[in-house]
Amino acid sequence: MRLKLLVVAISALLFSHVLFAMDYDPDFDLISEQAVRSYTMECAGCHGSNAAGRNGMAPNFSKEWFRLTKSDDELVGNLRAGFRTPGKFYNGGSCPPSALSSEELVDIFAVMRQFVGQ
Ligand code: HEC
Repeated sequence: MRLKLLVVAISALLFSHVLFAMDYDPDFDLISEQAVRSYTMECAGCHGSNAAGRNGMAPNFSKEWFRLTKSDDELVGNLRAGFRTPGKFYNGGSCPPSALSSEELVDIFAVMRQFVGQ
């Protein structure tokens, strides 16, 4: 009986350690806090609080999630070039020029992917 308890306790300990290692990334938490703030200030006006778009200003990335599967480089390039999808019209036109660095934009893309489960 005591041995059984011990085995359970040890496996629980091992298992929680695995979970801890998988879930906890303090660097990402720090990055994403700043990125969420920038997203809210510079992107949410068109992209909405959760990247699903706001008032037809920008695409709903919950539905058009595949757009966020593009590489970070491609997305940065598209954002900086004012990319527009041929044949589509959004009230926001395209992303406006941003003073954010490419690194900051990449952190924001990570947040946007999280919003839409990508
Ligand atoms: C003035 C409104 C507006 C703002 C502000 C804005 N965007 Fe956009 N964004 C758009 C529109 C509209 C599109 C879609 C353009 C199209 O495909 O025709 C778009 C597309 C995108 C895409 C997809 C590009 C692709 O290749 O499919 C990403 C990623 C994106 N925006 C990120 C951002 C980020 C990050 C910010 C903030 C730094 C931002 N946007 C700010 C309007 C905006």
